[in-house]
Amino acid sequence: MGATSGTGGSGAGTDSNGSGGDAATALGLLTAVGLRCEYLTDPLGIDTPKPRLSWALDSKDRNQSQTAYQVVVAGSDGATVWDSGKVASAQQLHIPYGGPPLASGQRVSWTVRVWDRDGNVSEPSAEGAWEMGLLSKGDWKGKWIAGSTALVDPPAPAPFLRKTVALPTAVESARIYVAAAGYYELYVNGQKISDQVLAPGYTRFDRRVLYVTHDVTAALEQGTNAIGLVLGNGFFNQTAPTDWGFESAPWRATPRALVQAQITFTDGTSQTIVSDDTWHVATGPILYDQVRSGETYDARLEKTSWAAAEYDEDASWTPALTVPAPAGVLSARMFPPAKVTQTLPAKTVKSPKAGTYVFDFGQNLAGWVRLSLSGAAGTSLTLRYGERLSADGTIDQAIIKTGNKGRFETDNYLMKGQGTEVWEPRFEYNGFQYVEISGLPVAPSLDAVVARAVNTAFDSVGEFRSSNALFGKIFEATRWSYRANFQSIPTDCPHREKNGWMADAHLGAEQAMFTYDNAAGYTKWIRDISDEMQASGALPGIVPTDGWGYSWGNGPAWDSAYFVVPYYLYLYYGDKQILMASYDKLKSYVDYLDSKDYFSANPSGWLGDWVYPGDTTPEAVTHAGYHVFDAKLVSMVAGWLGKTDDAAKYGKMADDVKSRFQQKFFDASTGQVSTGSQTALATALYQNLVDGADRTKVLSALAAKVGAKGNHLDTGCLGTKYLPWALTDGGRADLFYEIANKTDYPSWGNWFEKGATTLWEDWQGDNSLNHIFLGDITAWFFRALAGINPDVDAPGFANIIIRPEVVGNLTSSHGETKTLRGPVLSEWTLTTDLTLNVTIPPNTTATVHVPAMSQTNVTADGAAFVRSEPGRQIYKIGSGSYQFVVKGGPSAP
Ligand code: BGC
Repeated sequence: MGATSGTGGSGAGTDSNGSGGDAATALGLLTAVGLRCEYLTDPLGIDTPKPRLSWALDSKDRNQSQTAYQVVVAGSDGATVWDSGKVASAQQLHIPYGGPPLASGQRVSWTVRVWDRDGNVSEPSAEGAWEMGLLSKGDWKGKWIAGSTALVDPPAPAPFLRKTVALPTAVESARIYVAAAGYYELYVNGQKISDQVLAPGYTRFDRRVLYVTHDVTAALEQGTNAIGLVLGNGFFNQTAPTDWGFESAPWRATPRALVQAQITFTDGTSQTIVSDDTWHVATGPILYDQVRSGETYDARLEKTSWAAAEYDEDASWTPALTVPAPAGVLSARMFPPAKVTQTLPAKTVKSPKAGTYVFDFGQNLAGWVRLSLSGAAGTSLTLRYGERLSADGTIDQAIIKTGNKGRFETDNYLMKGQGTEVWEPRFEYNGFQYVEISGLPVAPSLDAVVARAVNTAFDSVGEFRSSNALFGKIFEATRWSYRANFQSIPTDCPHREKNGWMADAHLGAEQAMFTYDNAAGYTKWIRDISDEMQASGALPGIVPTDGWGYSWGNGPAWDSAYFVVPYYLYLYYGDKQILMASYDKLKSYVDYLDSKDYFSANPSGWLGDWVYPGDTTPEAVTHAGYHVFDAKLVSMVAGWLGKTDDAAKYGKMADDVKSRFQQKFFDASTGQVSTGSQTALATALYQNLVDGADRTKVLSALAAKVGAKGNHLDTGCLGTKYLPWALTDGGRADLFYEIANKTDYPSWGNWFEKGATTLWEDWQGDNSLNHIFLGDITAWFFRALAGINPDVDAPGFANIIIRPEVVGNLTSSHGETKTLRGPVLSEWTLTTDLTLNVTIPPNTTATVHVPAMSQTNVTADGAAFVRSEPGRQIYKIGSGSYQFVVKGGPSAP
């Protein structure tokens, strides 16, 4: 705590108005916890010049709030680098570092003191830290290295690269920065550094390449040390042809890396070690690696201890090739690494034919398998991954292979023949529930193979449960599909495409705001979208792209991920900066969209609602919805930036499109919209394309349409996002409950009748069985059933709207989510009475819409009554836990 007490002293010195006084004697009950820098906990390698700081608040008190804060940032010597002084402000999120420019590699620690509602100051928080990355190109002193430059198919075997270095004295601290195009694994003195996999992550490599900062202090020692690297092709050198043309990506080249070790010794001296042609390279056991196709590993070719200092290089080691840098700028990986996040045993193993064994993990997932098997040297095992079985019990890859030519999701392992061999691939991932192994001379045991789930390793922050068992299944399946489909980018599916389809990303994002701590992952991908925008404003539909998708465009329902996802970060995390920083590009896109007369003719390839079971919806209906949303968002951001002309201009654009929509598609006499499909009607409501009394008419038309389908949904990927809210916001959560509770086709429940463990791409189950884009029903669980909603007028959960829907035969519901400010909980049970428990963090308020006919039925301990609405009694609460009891339940008079 030396640094902390040092900064505490200087903090007290700058406590200009005298309130609070010495931290040591402070009585403040409010404390700052969970310090974040750019959404991350104690990150290494931050390359934003003014990182943004946030903290949660903790207090046992009710109605506790922050009236002021003081951030103190200290250097590694304990000296104060920046002291914000006491700032009279409730702000606890995204406070930009305000001190002098931080240097490359500079490490700082920070604490925050907060003043509560009564002016009591807290102790300094537990210390947080962050460290700057390498901020300019000139900081990188080494050369990019590779094992080969041959662009061949199949690709050259994976290079193993090594360098020994003599360190004269004891190490005080050491970092290794690794930038890589393709995948890398880093080793020091024989040990793999970090449990990350598939690093550093996927970007459009000719625009941006990621680097990672590793703390290797504990791995290095005085004397001779070795640094090793293994490189994989990843998305950088995809040789296997696909429909999306990645084999001819403009960035394509052999995998390469740039390495820089920065070592400080205990005597104060330092040393820099970089990648160059003094490194040595050889090939090893990885003969083939393709992210979509799989890996070939010949265990007989392993070079035991190749990464250890004392390893004796044979003649196969030659100087590493120095190669051109990828064209993209180097950016720090400021989001969690991919990891193996779960290991699953097989449920069954069957032998559908002689010598072939199929393991079933009982769960669809993304990742790979790990083998523990023995056999004679040279025994060649073939592993095929898949999510379906053929009638004969072998794996059927036909559907997930669509768009991929040649080898697909197949590993080949050649045994070395020495006892039990434990192996897993490392430069691929697969979507699968089953793996089929052939080539084994004897039947394997059930525990010979385990599944390894792989995804960007963000924390889980949300839980939902209720008395409805089906909803529990949908919630779990959504979690699996979401994780499988976040692999440093949001994807459509983990097998067939692995593409950053933009609609899939925004359609899956809102539920993720409740369930996973992934703001940093989205922040990264939004920048990837920025990297892709053409001068005309056009976007490609998949991000990253190799160029595929621009010539026809996929239209605003896909492109608007660039608006919708940052809007969610604003709404759920209070983050305005991404929208403001993207302002010019947001405008370019809306201007581009506005220049297309899609009302007259749908531009080729512009996608609309997709995978709907029955009634069609003209694409222009959903295009107009996003056009209005996007234009309004630009108008709002223009307002923040003080650009009043733009605010007016884009506000008018939104109004004009809305009028045009109404003229073309809306019949005010009947409330019908376009073809009268559920999607068309829901679009008009969800995207606010009709107002006032017209909304009531559209709602009736929609309810009638749902009724005509026997209370089934008839919506595709877009309409399925709108339908819950079109009904719920109109007071018909009861009707959506009926839809959500179905188990016959088309419904979510029907998937589980057919054995689903993840969400599917369509209602029939004819395509991918692991898609996220029909998964926003999970947001409905949190927002409507548990009733936890952000407030657009006080974003980032500064105010929380608690509005549970007590519907259908539901007797209980429980939702909780850890927001940036702290945990929010809303749970209710219905017996004769309705009991609603709500907990919200310090420095937040909630408006609680208690389902009750009359205020006299409600006991609301400590909550302030605000007003009545039909069927709702509305209260205001400050932080803490509150219980509301509605005598006789919500419908008691
Ligand atoms: C993907 C979708 C994607 C779509 C575009 C499909 O092949 O899997 O999820 O959004 O193409 O319509």
